[in-house]
Amino acid sequence: MANQEDVFKKLVSHCKEYGFVFPSSEIYDGLGAVYDYGQNGVELKNNIKRYWWEAMTKLHENIVGIDAAIFMHPTVWKASGHVDAFNDPLIDNRDSKKRYRADVLIEEQLAKIEDKINKEVEKARKRFGEAFDEAQFRATNGRVLEYQTKWNALHQRYSDAMNKMDLDELKQIILDEEIVCPISGTRNWTDVRQFNLMFSTEMGSTADGAMKIYLRPETAQGIFVNYLNVQKSGRMKLPFGIAQIGKAFRNEIVARQFIFRMREFEQMEMQFFIKPGTELDWFAKWKKTRLAWHKALGFGDLMYRYHDHEKLAHYANAATDIEFNMPFGFKEVEGIHSRTNFDLSQHAKYSGKKIEYFDPETRESYVPYVIETSIGVDRMFLSIMAGAYREEEVNGERRVVLALPPALAPVKVAILPLVNKDGLPEKAEEILRELRYDYTCQIEVKDSIGKRYRRQDAIGTPYCVTVDGQTLEDNTVTLRFRDTMEQERVAIADLHKIIGDSVNISSLLRKIEND
Ligand code: GAP
Repeated sequence: MANQEDVFKKLVSHCKEYGFVFPSSEIYDGLGAVYDYGQNGVELKNNIKRYWWEAMTKLHENIVGIDAAIFMHPTVWKASGHVDAFNDPLIDNRDSKKRYRADVLIEEQLAKIEDKINKEVEKARKRFGEAFDEAQFRATNGRVLEYQTKWNALHQRYSDAMNKMDLDELKQIILDEEIVCPISGTRNWTDVRQFNLMFSTEMGSTADGAMKIYLRPETAQGIFVNYLNVQKSGRMKLPFGIAQIGKAFRNEIVARQFIFRMREFEQMEMQFFIKPGTELDWFAKWKKTRLAWHKALGFGDLMYRYHDHEKLAHYANAATDIEFNMPFGFKEVEGIHSRTNFDLSQHAKYSGKKIEYFDPETRESYVPYVIETSIGVDRMFLSIMAGAYREEEVNGERRVVLALPPALAPVKVAILPLVNKDGLPEKAEEILRELRYDYTCQIEVKDSIGKRYRRQDAIGTPYCVTVDGQTLEDNTVTLRFRDTMEQERVAIADLHKIIGDSVNISSLLRKIEND
């Protein structure tokens, strides 16, 4: 575990050192859980968004995009339930004055018990070696069974309290479990209170009577309120989808793990409108389609798993997460939800407008059901960085390489004149002018060629083109491949052919289709 924590720390500093992610307003000591993307980060992020957007809109004829405003009429959030129910239970420690999510404190307590079980298992594995039967050990070992019973009882009590949002019971659990504040070490807790996660601001001057509006906590509502506009103007027939990428804001109480949980983040959401009664089939289909999108990146199938929800929101009749094996364990990257007709019906009720679909085949009108796929760009970014980060030993030297899928890499081709003189920089410029219409290229002249290769490896550049004296004579260059570090002498005229489509988003899209 310590090792994985180490990897995560290295990843965070790598992101800063190589211009991927910086803390926001860093010269003022940063702003909690807000981050900026640097020169390489923005390229990678844009490529992730392009991959998602094109997978949605190019591979599905019946999915179109929109770009709704962040500010929306405040009644939208009343109708969606966010004003009344988008809350986290929080608790303060009176001594440290630190604020915590009550549910997170209890979940950490559950994780501690799980750790104890895992430690017993690991100890026994070492003791018994090859002959170890983990399932049998878990089912029979006295100490493990004792911990498991404790875990089950706590989990049941916690789930019941969360389902009823019983704040007194949540506090009582914290007291009974003798959970202490990690800062002060005391159990001097306040009562548990509800905390709404939406940021609000005011629109219009106060003299005119300003209106309280919210920064959207999800992009989905921008799609729901435009359902009729898109359906009518695009003459869309069910089933059809609307995709959107945009910023969302949540005043997270516990914001940690770098860009995993942020206060300002970006979502890629798609609402798929369908005929009532067909939702479970479509839900199963979208689960598969979305996992295939993730797997096409090539990090290995074992890095992903589904987490089906047992506890469903009152409007959902199925929900699952796609989790990625982050350095801090399997964590949700994407949610797929069968949201019934809850949102459209609520907007119809609150706006007084009829929001329905007239089915030309059955000649009936109904409120469509919705399957939602919702993924955080930043979490996806983190999962890709984590999946791609590698430390290798090469001839006794350490190299850090980002084995990014070439189509997502910020720079596709680095052009490196061996020396910064003798006409080589000019030749590099000539090659750049040749390639830049198709690939994002970068010329690097400073430092030894070895150092430049290392820098390009560290940002995940799949191809390096080295220009030397021979290039001026015969128009050939050395082409170096990031992953194998193999080098080949090739004609400049062949570069296009060799690199080809491998660094373009279309190559990823084809992988999804062919799998
Ligand atoms: N419209 C449904 C919805 O918003 P969600 O599970 O709350 O569902 C969907 O969020 C996705 O948005 C998550 O799977 C995650 O990738 C991302 N996300 C949510 N909160 C986030 C946060 N505070 N920071 C970064 N990403 C977040």
